[in-house]
Amino acid sequence: MDITILGIESSCDDTSAAVLRNTTLLSNVIASQAVHQKYGGVIPELASRAHQQNIIPVVDTALKEAGITIDKVDAIAFTRGPGLLGSLLVGVSFAKGLSIANNIPLVEVNHLQGHILSHFVDMPDRELPHPDFPFLCLLVSGGHTQIVRVDSPNKMEIIGTTIDDAAGEAFDKCAKVMGLPYPGGPIIDRLAKEGNAKAFKFAKPHVEGEFDYSFSGLKTSFLYTLRDAVKENPNFVEENKADLCASLQNTIIEILLDKLIKASKSTGIKDIAIAGGVSANSGLRNAIMEAGKRRGWRTFLPELKFTTDNAAMIAVAGYYRYMTGELSSLDVSPVARIQDL
Ligand code: KG4
Ligand code: ZN
Repeated sequence: MDITILGIESSCDDTSAAVLRNTTLLSNVIASQAVHQKYGGVIPELASRAHQQNIIPVVDTALKEAGITIDKVDAIAFTRGPGLLGSLLVGVSFAKGLSIANNIPLVEVNHLQGHILSHFVDMPDRELPHPDFPFLCLLVSGGHTQIVRVDSPNKMEIIGTTIDDAAGEAFDKCAKVMGLPYPGGPIIDRLAKEGNAKAFKFAKPHVEGEFDYSFSGLKTSFLYTLRDAVKENPNFVEENKADLCASLQNTIIEILLDKLIKASKSTGIKDIAIAGGVSANSGLRNAIMEAGKRRGWRTFLPELKFTTDNAAMIAVAGYYRYMTGELSSLDVSPVARIQDL
C-alpha cells in the first residue's frame, strides 16, 4: 500500500513543506527568509515571525504541487529539533493543529537524521543512488559537524562531533570578518574557485577525540591573519579575497576529510555519504570524490537541493519512522539542543 507523508521543516530560517509517496518526491517547497541578510546572521525573533507568515502558504503550495488534498495524507512528519526554539514551535504547533483537525498521525523527526536520510529520497522519474547499510555520513551544517555511523534509517550513532564551532559556522564567521553577506559559505565557495588554496596557511586543530572536530582555532587564526595584514595594508582583504577564500576552504576540507578517513579506516566502512548545508560546497564534493577514489569508497553526494534545509528530508525520515510505528503523541514539544532529543 502506498503511504503519503507531508513533511514540515521550520528549525532555522527556511520554512519548508514537502509531500512524498513512499520515498518518491511529489513536491518540496522552500521559503527562504531574506530578512536576516542585513544582520549578517539569523535573528531568532525574526525567523519565528517569518515562519508564522510562511507556513500556511508553503504547506498549501506543497499539497497543491503534489496534486493532493490533506485528507490523502497518512502521516504528518515535522522537525522536533534541534534548532531555534521559536522557529520549531511554529512548525510543531502547525503540525499538531493539522493532525487534530484532520485526524492524521504525527511523526517527529530529528533534523540531523533528516539531513542524513535525504540520501533516500527518490525523484518521480529516477531513483537516486542510495548508500548500503552500514554507512558513514559526514554531516556538515550551520550548527553541527558530525561523523555518524548509520546502521538503518532508524538506528544511527554519532561517532564524532565538533567540540566547538560547526564547519558551516567557520565559513559564515570568516565570511563576516571579510565583510561578506550571510550566509557566507556559498559565497566563499564561489570566490575560492578563482583563488590559490596554498596562498595562506591557517592553524589546524589537535583534538583529543579520535573522530572529533574543532573549528574555533581556525576562525581565530583567520581573524589574526587578517587583523595583522590590514594594519600594513588597509586594502588587504579586497586585494586577496579569492586567495583567502580558497585557502580557508581548503583548510576546512582538509580538517573534515582527515577525521572522516580515520573513521572509515577504523570501522572498515567504505560507503561514505555527506549531508547538510556545507555538503553543497563544490571543493568538499570534489575532494571527497578524489579521496574516495584512492580508498575504494562508494561516495554519495546529495543533490544540491537536498543539501540545505528542506522538508523532503523530514518527510523521508518520517516515512521510515511511520513504517516502524514510531508515532508521536499530541503533547510532543520542540527541543532546541541535540543533547535533549
Ligand atoms: O543544513 P543547513 O541548511 O542549516 C543548518 O541546519 O544549519 O546549513 C547551512 C550552512 C550555512 O553555514 C551555510 O553557509 C552553509 O550551510 N553552506 C555552504 C554552502 N552552501 C551552504 N557552505 C559552504 N559552501 C557552500 N556551497
Ligand atoms: Zn539543517
